[in-house]
Order: sequence, then C-alpha cells, then structure tokens
Amino acid sequence: MSFWTGKQIVIGIGGGIAAYKSLEIIRRLREAGALVVPVPTPAGLRFVTELTLQSLAGGPVHGELMQPRQPGEMDHIRLAREADLVIIAPATADLMARMASGQADDLLTALLLARRGPTLAAPAMNPAMWSHPATQRNVARLREDGLLVIGPESGAMACGESGEGRMAEPAAILEAARRALTPPILAGRRFLITAGPTREELDPVRFLTNHSSGKMGWETALAALRAGAEVDLVHGPVALPPPPGARLLPVTTAEEMRAAALEAWQQRECDAAILTAAVADYRPAQRQPDKIKKEHEEPEMHLTLTQNPDILAELSARANGNQVVCGFAAETGNALERGREKLVRKGCDLLAINDVTAPGCGFGSETNIVTLIGRDGWEESWPLLPKEAVAERLIRAIHALLGQRHPT
Ligand code: CTP
Repeated sequence: MSFWTGKQIVIGIGGGIAAYKSLEIIRRLREAGALVVPVPTPAGLRFVTELTLQSLAGGPVHGELMQPRQPGEMDHIRLAREADLVIIAPATADLMARMASGQADDLLTALLLARRGPTLAAPAMNPAMWSHPATQRNVARLREDGLLVIGPESGAMACGESGEGRMAEPAAILEAARRALTPPILAGRRFLITAGPTREELDPVRFLTNHSSGKMGWETALAALRAGAEVDLVHGPVALPPPPGARLLPVTTAEEMRAAALEAWQQRECDAAILTAAVADYRPAQRQPDKIKKEHEEPEMHLTLTQNPDILAELSARANGNQVVCGFAAETGNALERGREKLVRKGCDLLAINDVTAPGCGFGSETNIVTLIGRDGWEESWPLLPKEAVAERLIRAIHALLGQRHPT
C-alpha cells in the first residue's frame, strides 16, 4: 500500500510543450496505485495523443464537453467533485486566464469551475508570457481563489529562450501534490533534522566516515514538510535530491554539524529536533596538511583519535521544556536495553531504536524496524516498515508530544 493507492487524480493537460512531462506524472501515479483520469484541453491533445494518454492512464480520456456519456463512465462534474486531487500540468497562460475569469468553454475549465477540493497547477510558458502583468494578475487571483501553484522554474526553455517559465519537474509536482493531500498538523512549527554521515579528514586525500545514506533523515524531513513544518536540514555528504522546501545546511565534519545544529536550535526557535545523523564518534587528533606518506619499513600505522562532541546530548541539555528532542540509536544486539540506557545518558525525550543487523534494517536499506521509547518507560514497537512510513509515525508521535507541552 502506497500513499497513492486508491486515490482518484484528475490530470488536466493544457496546450504547451511541457505536456510531455504530464505523461511521466500519469505513469508514476498509476505505478503507485492511483486511479488517474486525464482531461486534456483540445490544444493539449495536439501535444500528446489520446491513445498515449489512454494507454498510460489505463482508462478513458475525457476530452469533449459535449461528448455523450458512455454507460459506466463517471459523470464529468461528479468526477471533478469526487477526485481527491486535480493536477493541471501544464497550466498555460491561456488556460489560467480562462480559469481566472471563470470561463467554462471546454471540459477542463468546466470541470475546474465545478471543483471545490484541492487543485494544484504547474504553470509552463515562455518567460515573457509568465512575467506579463496579465499572467501575474491571473495567478494571484487564482491563488486567492484557493489554487495551489508549483513553479515555474528557471532554466532553458523549449523555445530556445532562458528564464522563469519552465514547468516544475514531475517529481516536484508529485511532492507538491502529496503535500496538498496531507493534513498540515505541523503548520507553524519549525523542525531541526540532522541526516547522513560525517567525514573526518586525516589528510587532504583521506577521511573516516560510515555507511549512512541519509535516507532516514531525508524521509523524516519530507514527512515534516508534508505536515506543514518548516525544516532546517543539517546534513553530511549524501547523494540524495534535496527535499523541496527544506532549508539545507550542508556540513562535512561532526564539529561543523554541531555548530550548524546548535545555531539553528537556538537562533531559529525550533519546536523539535530529530537527530538521524550517523555522527562520527571520533576524529583524527590532527589533520595532516600534506598527504600522509607510507612508511615503507613500518608494517603498522597508529592513529590517535579525539572524541567528537555529542550533538544530541548538547541539544537535549539546552531544550527549554517545550521543545522535543528525538534521537536515533542504531544498535547491533540488546537494542532495547542499550537504547533505554542511551536515552537516559543523552537526556533526550524520544529515541528511535533499531537493530541494524536485523533483516530489512540498517544502512542504505529502504525499510526499518523501530521501537520508539520515551521517558518514564513509554515505548511503542513498529513492524518492518518502509522508512517513509517510519518517518510518518515518528512525526505523528512528536506532534502528539508537542501538543501536550505547548499547543500551537
Ligand atoms: N549523536 C550525536 N552526536 C554524536 C554522536 C551521536 O548527535 N557525536 C546522535 C545521533 O545522531 C543519534 C544518537 O546520537 O541520534 C545516537 O547515536 P549513536 O551512534 O547510536 O550513539 P553513540 O553516542 O555513538 O553511542 P554508542 O557509541 O555507545 O552506541
């Protein structure tokens, strides 16, 4: 079961070259289990064919306003009302102008006029058309009317020009769509999240690090953003696309991570911190300015390491009683017992414990088995879950704790 399973999504397709990207959106939604109904405008159908849309969506394409209904097909107006979400991609200048003035001269605009639920538009057009006062007026009016808008982005356009007007990428549109469908339980809250490994340099060419991929922290940031929080994401070197909307604070070493995390925690009045980062416990006592040369006569090499500061313990010590601090504990045996001891030692409010040697757990995996423990012996064990679902449960638990301490 994915987030999209069983959701009804109408995809309105305007007449612009970016229409080809809407095919990717349809494909991804279908793969994730959504029921997708494409509604192209007549101009949209000049860029993508009915047959392509039909094949990708796996169902009929609704294009004509006056088309007689086929037995068993959904009524267009009912479809507009019942869809969980309408995505308009691309939303062209002309389409938005017609929407803004409440016209209903084709099926898509008629459907949008009847629509009351969440509707997300991804504008796409030439930069001069986008910056024209008429378009800006129309978009402002549509936002006032409740339309959600993603993009457009800046970059090279199909017309050869460059500037703001390029449609947001399918992945960004889908993330915005997901946010549109997630209750904003964390609106007005600010979260600090640490993620990924740290790197401790020995010399200009070598460093000590660990296997952390950053995935758990990324999913946690996405879950917090979807729930409406602002997110400061302090992260070590990872190879993941930035979560849209997060304030990224890239660092390399544990000491840099500490400085960035403490600053965010104190200066930006965060409500909660979730520390998923795999911080190196030690760093080389001295970083050599030049490459360390092999001692040909010496079969062994000894390194002296210095302990790094414990960010979780420091943040917990500085928490003001309303703030919630949650750590992660990757253990390799006796996980629960060690976790309980760690929660007390570090002084945090919550600790998500997982045994990294259990099947389906550990660095780089897509899933995790977590037991969340709190003070006073509170605990909750979750089954093997995708990291995305672990993150969602974690966010719900923190939201509940924040509500007890300091209602928004
Ligand atoms: N952590 C931290 N700063 C450190 C080390 C760890 O903030 N210098 C945080 C991690 O982000 C995580 C939690 O502390 O949320 C637990 O990390 P873990 O590596 O399991 O704990 P350690 O302190 O390394 O304890 P041990 O070596 O005994 O397992």
